[in-house]
This record gives sequence, C-alpha cells and structure tokens, in this order.
Amino acid sequence: MELKRFENKEQMSLSAAAYTSKLIRKNTSRGDVFTIALSGGSSPVRFYELLAKEEIDWSLVNIFLVDERKVDVDHEYSNYRMINNALLSKIDIPETNVFSFEIEINSVSECAANYEKRVRQSFEDKYPVFDLIVLGLGPDGHTASLFPGEDHTIEQDHIFIQATAPEQFDIPERLTMTLALINRADKRIFVISGKGKNGMVQRVFDEDRTIPAGLINSNSTIFFDNFL
Ligand code: 6PG
Repeated sequence: MELKRFENKEQMSLSAAAYTSKLIRKNTSRGDVFTIALSGGSSPVRFYELLAKEEIDWSLVNIFLVDERKVDVDHEYSNYRMINNALLSKIDIPETNVFSFEIEINSVSECAANYEKRVRQSFEDKYPVFDLIVLGLGPDGHTASLFPGEDHTIEQDHIFIQATAPEQFDIPERLTMTLALINRADKRIFVISGKGKNGMVQRVFDEDRTIPAGLINSNSTIFFDNFL
C-alpha cells in the first residue's frame, strides 16, 4: 500500500488527476481502451472535475461505477448524478462508453445481475480486470458499499451484488462491486478527504483485515489530504 499525503484537497485532487490521466494516456496513446470504475462520495468530486480538464482521448475510455444507492438518477445521493456533474457532462465521451446502472427502473438485485452481464460482455466474457478502480473510505472503514460486519471474502462468483448499508446511512439499499472484482483490477486508488479519517487511513495502510477497506489488495495507492 502506498500512501501519498497532501496538505489540502486541491493538491490531492491535482495529484490524483495527474496520476490517473498518465495511466489513461499510457493505454490510449497506443490505441488501447482504458477501463476505469468510479466511486461516489464527496472526496473525489474535485478530482473528477480536474480529470475532466486533462488531455485525454475519452473515445478510448470505458467508464463504470463502483457502487450506487437505490435512488433516481437526479437524487442528491445518486453517485451517477455526482459523477455526471463533475466529469461526464464536461468531457467528450461517446454514450456507449459510459456504463451506468439503470437502478431507477429495476430492483437492486435485477440491476446487479444486468450490470454484471453488461460488464462481462464488455470484457468479452473474460473475468473483468479493470485498469483502475477509484475507491473511497468511510469513517467506519467501508469502501465501495462493502460495510463492516459481513464477510466480503466469500463472494467469488458474482462481480456486482446487492448490499445493505447500516442504519446510520440514509439509503440502505445499495448495489456494489464485490471485493473479488476490486482486488483483481490492475490498479486501485483510494481518494480520501476529511480530517476525521486519520485513524482509519492508518488502518487501511496497515492492512487491518477487520475492516472492509483493509481487505483491499495492497497493490493500491492512497491519496489523502491530511497528515497522519
Ligand atoms: C459512496 C461510496 C462510498 C464512499 C465513502 C466515502 O457511494 O458513497 O462509494 O464508499 O466512497 O463513503 O465517502 P466520502 O468521500 O463522502 O467521505
């Protein structure tokens, strides 16, 4: 696990955008598609806005979502809404390159099954290995919609599943990438903002397996806007 610490959110977001655009260009400059999955939350908003300003051939980038709440796309808690506002609406990307969940028209389990099918097809029915997955970190140690109190290592067959957030969260009904899928990606970055997260970031860095984020493949980089 690599930890990059920054004095403020702007510096962190700039660095995460530079890191990501460099990775994307490495593929696209040789004509290869780059596959990226994005998380919601408040921490990555500025990062996505800055990524939108990078010199990137978006026609060669496929964008997926890591997780979502069972809400309409215009709901204030919709991850798609945030990602669309910060990034998708500002870049020139073909609609077919954006894999959104269609969660407003299906039940979460149907949606997970449909999305899983679409993702597998887009990876030509081989196990989907994303080039980059962007993750966040909750104050309770959750990442994606993988919450404490469940054994996330068991699910090996499915790549997207229904999840339930604990009661302190507003929208319990969620859909999430599985730990197995996240850990098979080529690279992962955590984009984490917030003064109260020092202790939790340390636990992720120490690979504390009692929290979901501590189970993430250690071949990952943490971008954090605070000093430990
Ligand atoms: C979401 C996420 C979730 C998030 C963390 C951190 O949909 O909210 O995917 O895992 O990354 O809860 O959220 P903040 O960045 O808002 O602290």
